[in-house]
This record gives sequence, C-alpha cells and structure tokens, in this order.
Amino acid sequence: MYNIRKITKDLTWLGASDHRLALFENIYPIPHGISYNSYLLNDEKTVLFDTVDSSVRRQFFENLQYALNGKKLDFAVIHHMEPDHCAELSELLRIYPQTKIVCNAQTQKMIAQFFELNLPNEQFILIKDGDCLNIGKHTLNFIAAPMVHWPEVMMTYDSCDKILFSADAFGTFGALNGNIFADEVSFEKDYLDEARRYYTNIVGKYGLQVQNVLKKAAALDIKTICPLHGFIWRDNLNYFIDKYTKWATYEPEDKAVIIVYGSIYGNTYDAASVLATKLAEDGIKNIKMYDVSKTHASYIISEAFRVSTIVLAAPTYNGGIFVNMENTLRDLVAHNLQNRRFAIMDNGTWAALAGKQMKDMLTPLKNCSFIEPTISVKSSLKKEQITQIEALAKEIENNL
Ligand code: FEO
Repeated sequence: MYNIRKITKDLTWLGASDHRLALFENIYPIPHGISYNSYLLNDEKTVLFDTVDSSVRRQFFENLQYALNGKKLDFAVIHHMEPDHCAELSELLRIYPQTKIVCNAQTQKMIAQFFELNLPNEQFILIKDGDCLNIGKHTLNFIAAPMVHWPEVMMTYDSCDKILFSADAFGTFGALNGNIFADEVSFEKDYLDEARRYYTNIVGKYGLQVQNVLKKAAALDIKTICPLHGFIWRDNLNYFIDKYTKWATYEPEDKAVIIVYGSIYGNTYDAASVLATKLAEDGIKNIKMYDVSKTHASYIISEAFRVSTIVLAAPTYNGGIFVNMENTLRDLVAHNLQNRRFAIMDNGTWAALAGKQMKDMLTPLKNCSFIEPTISVKSSLKKEQITQIEALAKEIENNL
C-alpha cells in the first residue's frame, strides 16, 4: 500500500524505512533501523529527488505511482550516487523511460559505472554549482557539496518554498515511524546520539567540506531541510545547524570525559575504573566508560566527537596495542578527530608498550594534546600508584 506524507502543498515524502537491516553500509549497527528518503515536487513539471535503497523498492514505487496521480515524471534529480539512494535509478528509468536525469558530470559518469544503461546524452540535464532549473512556480538552485559524502554530491535549494534538499547532510540513523518531522519526536532525547553517530562516522572525516557547505547554506533563507535519511526539519533548524557546525569544526559539544578501555582479565579495567571514581569524587559528572571489546567503534567515534577529554586504557598485546583498542584508534584517526585532550593508561606484565604506541597513533591528529602523567600498570594496579591516578585525575579536571 502507498504510504506517503505531504510536506508542503507541492512536496510529498515518498520514503520508506528498513527495520530489518542489521548493519548500515555493512559496517554500522542500526538497532533502530534506517530510513531512505525520496521526495516528489509537483509543479508544471514533476521532479523526483533521488530514489531509495533496493530493500524498500516495492514501497517506493507504490508511493511514486500514487503521488504522480497519472502525471508523467519529468525529472529525476540525483544528489548522490551511493546505492542507498540511487540503487533504483535503473528500475525508475525502465518504468518512466522519458524521465530526464538532472545531475552533474561526475554523477553522469558514475551512473555509467553502476549501470549498463547506455543512456543517450539527451536524457541528461547536466548542471553545475550555481545552475538553476525552473519547473513552473518553483525554481531549483543546485549547490555542489563535494565529499559530503562522495565527490559528486550536490544539494538543491527550492527558492519558492525555501526548502533545502541536503543529501546525506542532516541525516539520522533510525527508521521513521509515522513521524517524519523532527518536531514530531523528542529528537534530543531519542535521536541526537544516533544523528551524531551517523554524521561522525559517515562524513566526520570531511569537516572542512561540510563547513564549506554550511557557509553556502548560511546565505540562503532556509525554512525546511529535507535530508536523505531520518527526519525533515521545519522547526528550530538552528538547533541542528549548530550541532553540525560543532561537529564539522571538531569542537566538543560537552566538557566531559569518556574512558575507553580494553581489558583482557580485568586489571586494566580496574585501573581505569579507579580513575573514574577519583574523577567522580572530585565532582566530574556524566563520566562514560566504554569497553572496546563490547562497543562498536562507531559509538566510540561518536562519543569522541561529543566530549573534550578521552582517556584510553589498554594492555600490551603481541608487543603492540590490545587489538580491539588498536582497531578503534585506527578508525578514530581515520575520522580526522581534532582539538581533543587524551590521557593514556597502559598495562604490561613484562613489557608495557601500548601507551607509547597509542600516543604515536594519535600524534598526527590536529591540535590534540596529552594529559600527563601517563599511567603504566605492571599486571595490576598497586596502592603506590593511587597517587599517580589522583594526579592524572587532577590534570584532567584542570584541563576540562
Ligand atoms: Fe546515504 Fe552516502 O549515502
């Protein structure tokens, strides 16, 4: 059955949610599912903005057919060629072969890479940054948004209804459950953490490029943001734009501490836990501890973008860093985290090497520093080291 919602008189949400998928991009756990948003603008010409992932194909085509209400589909704007949005382009053109594809040259090339469609050039309306397309009452203004999240990405601004179609930007992990607008849910309580995990893991590396797009967006009068995943924003936009500005500039949201630890038999955890207690005794609130062996790296990356101070505690393993910590740190470094303070604790029964190696991994990160002293445990924490832990706690507090 068709399952659509109106956004404005002329714009309809045609998206659908996948509640069954376990791993988005076959990497990221999505315990609450994911939505794939697609939109139809109905003017003198009809315009589809992106398709959907193949998992929700049937729902999408039922929605599209119903929303078109017998009209032909004139244009399909392709903002992003990742298959969670363009997978159904080939099927779309089989059903609506007269539809013109509105995209940039890089997207046209990617279409030929993903599909063997042999489309004639006349089927494309090739656009560049700053170009416009009038479809009647509405004029579509195209904005290049390279690397948010792939190089071909663009956004569209409908200057008539002041709507920004923002591609992957401003998206959120999580299926939609009838409510498609952020103002219809308790976003901060129920969805902010997943929005942050989505942003930081998917486009967190490309903060500079996101900043460039935010600058372009600041020049527009935007009343509604329609992303490709998650909720549509039509109220309190600045709340979410402020979050994006912080994430894109690698500025911590909270002056807070997380303790990320790996522990084989519990002794490294014990030392990390004593540090947490000392911090708490000194009044530090909302400390969070994450076990790298039980926590998917995407959650730790998201938390590392949220807080100002990150304590890392790991044993030495095979002469290196405990492997689950090493993998987490590699992922963290790949996401280009900046402007953070790290504290290091390691453990080794005969050769404690993990601390130095963790520091070496993190040293290339921009504007990051280490809080001393580094704690090195020999097998298990001893009473004599409590003063070291207290000193580290004090330095963390002083630098928060
Ligand atoms: Fe939702 Fe980069 O695709």
